[in-house]
This record gives sequence, C-alpha cells and structure tokens, in this order.
Amino acid sequence: MGKTFPIQKNADDSIHDFWSRIRVNFVTRVEIGKVNTMAVANTPSRDEALMLLQEHVSDEKLQIHAFCVEGVMRYLARKHGGDEDEWGLVGLLHDIDYQQFPHEHCKHVREILEPHGWPEEMLRAIEAHGWGICTDVEPKTTLEKCLFAFDELTGLVYATALVRPSRSVLDMKAKSVRKKWKVRSFAAGVNREIIQQGADMLGLELDEMYTECIMGMREVAAEIGLGDS
Ligand SMILES: [Fe+2]
Ligand SMILES: [Fe+2]
Repeated sequence: MGKTFPIQKNADDSIHDFWSRIRVNFVTRVEIGKVNTMAVANTPSRDEALMLLQEHVSDEKLQIHAFCVEGVMRYLARKHGGDEDEWGLVGLLHDIDYQQFPHEHCKHVREILEPHGWPEEMLRAIEAHGWGICTDVEPKTTLEKCLFAFDELTGLVYATALVRPSRSVLDMKAKSVRKKWKVRSFAAGVNREIIQQGADMLGLELDEMYTECIMGMREVAAEIGLGDS
C-alpha cells in the first residue's frame, strides 16, 4: 500500500462522500502481477494502473468504487465496440486524485498520469466525468458519456445490493434499483439528476442503465464483495 492521505469531506461532491460513508466488511482483492489483461498499443497496462491506484488511493471504499466503475466500463466497451482496456482503465483510475485533492478533484489527473504516458483521450475522459461539478470538460465521446453516466449509478446499485437478502448483484434485477431510485432518502448522496443527465446524453432509459450497470458489476462481483457469500 502506498502513502496514506486523510479523507476530507467535500460537501460539493456528494458521490464521493457517499462512498466514504458506506460500510464494507471484507478485504478488497488487489493482486498486482496476477492480471492477464493484454494491453494494446498506447494503452497503459492494468498492472501499472493497479499500482497507481494503490499509491494514490488507500481508502478501501474508494478502491471498491474504482473496481465497480472498471467492471461497468469494460462491459460497456464490449457493448459499444470500444477498447476494453482503455475504457476499463479509465474507469479504474477516474478518481485517482480524489483522496489527495478532494477539493480539486480532476484538476490533478494530468500531473499524476501524464508522467506514466497516459494518452490524451484517456486523460480527457477522466476529466470529463466531473463535468459541471468540478470541471468544464464536456463529455463528447461514447466512452466519456458512459463514464459520466455510470460513475454515479454504481453507488445506487451498490447500495441497493447491500440491503438485499442475498447481498449480491448476481441475482439482482433493474426493478430493485428502480424502487430505490424513487426513495430519495435511500443512498441520498447519489445525485439522481446527474444519472438522469447521463441517461439523456446516451439516449437510454433509466431501466436500461440499471440493467447495464448490474451486468457490469456482476463481472467484478467477487472483487467488490457483492458475489456469492
Ligand atoms: Fe469523481
Ligand atoms: Fe467516481
């Protein structure tokens, strides 16, 4: 584990506050050197991305969030014909600067990742997930729109799974998320307006987004503690 940094509250950034308050009771599995993901040209390796995650994000709950978003982005990459590693690693490291710089989120992505050769399109995609919140980088590509839309939704899906009898996403359906969406006091830190904005960007119904988010999180169910108990 790398350096540790105190988590500071940032009232303007509700989703990160949400993730900092959820309770987990398992150990996140981060196994550097045991990943068989093939890196394509100009795409950083997953091993290197995991090392950067450990160096800059020591908070376990933020690591879980990173794995949730990576899983969903890999799923969506295959659906949209994108590069799975590019989409997945953008998801994995999209909050790379949050723990160190909660009040300057997305502003330090370049200084962290550029020295490691991260290409411009991946840096821009990370910056664009904070559009209207902490950056003015508008999501333009499908990758950018998906990250913007699904980042926030992973929080609602995660919280919904935690209160189910199975405590799992493996047997969860969109209907469960739909019910919780309507209860504004449930996972209140999840900004429903941002998710709706993302759905509009992608031209998706919310139910479709719930299903896709669940499908993506199923692929990393063991890593995020929402698989078979
Ligand atoms: Fe973020
Ligand atoms: Fe995030």
